[in-house]
Amino acid sequence: MRSKIVAGNWKMNKNLAETEALVIELEAKLPNTDAEVMVSPTFVNLASAVSKLQGSKIKVIAQNMHNAESGAYTGEISADMLLNIGIDTVILGHSERRAYFGETDEILATKVKAALAKNMQIMFCFGEELNDRKSDNHFKVVESQLRNALFDLDPSAWSSIILAYEPVWAIGTGETASPEQAQEMHAFIRKTIANAFNNEIAENVSILYGGSVKPGNAKEIFSKPDVDGGLIGGAALVADDFVAIINGI
Ligand code: 13P
Repeated sequence: MRSKIVAGNWKMNKNLAETEALVIELEAKLPNTDAEVMVSPTFVNLASAVSKLQGSKIKVIAQNMHNAESGAYTGEISADMLLNIGIDTVILGHSERRAYFGETDEILATKVKAALAKNMQIMFCFGEELNDRKSDNHFKVVESQLRNALFDLDPSAWSSIILAYEPVWAIGTGETASPEQAQEMHAFIRKTIANAFNNEIAENVSILYGGSVKPGNAKEIFSKPDVDGGLIGGAALVADDFVAIINGI
């Protein structure tokens, strides 16, 4: 059975005091929900968020990690460092990492393997750019992003993978994929995974939608049968908005 998940990607926002205040407010306002709820503060504030959320249903996850175990990689963070502070889930492949930090499918494939080797859970992000959609290449692009990073994995790895489809043209733009566009792509993703692996894996993987999800559109997007929740950017920075989105699932 796949899980419903609502995750907040805080990106490079919130200092330490703001992080602590937001997680405390979220914990206080968290509705009764079957969904898994996750938040992803920036690296320097992860340990504090974990400590403030001890015993909470809200899980703290990381926005990125390096593929190497340790060593001369100035500015980078390893899987062991995350595990050591109580983080066992990492976002990989976000379009901002791909666009601004040169993360290719090949690099992401090594990060995926490194995280799996440490028994971490991965929230793998992917999605087409506006040009791809305009030229009707969006299915092809998404299929190749999945294939290049995930399709040579052992089938058993899929119990540790969450997918997050985030069309780049909908991120931070206020423009969201329509519920029908999201459903169409999510169904395609599930079919692609069924072809590459099997139906059981495809049916059990959670596929989140991300890109301008707000309190006003969350419920309709989440109502689609192949949309298992959302990865939320801007609206995850305001407790009442994030809670309203959780209530939409
Ligand atoms: P927005 O919700 O701000 O569009 O961001 C989506 C996103 O990139 C989540 O990872």
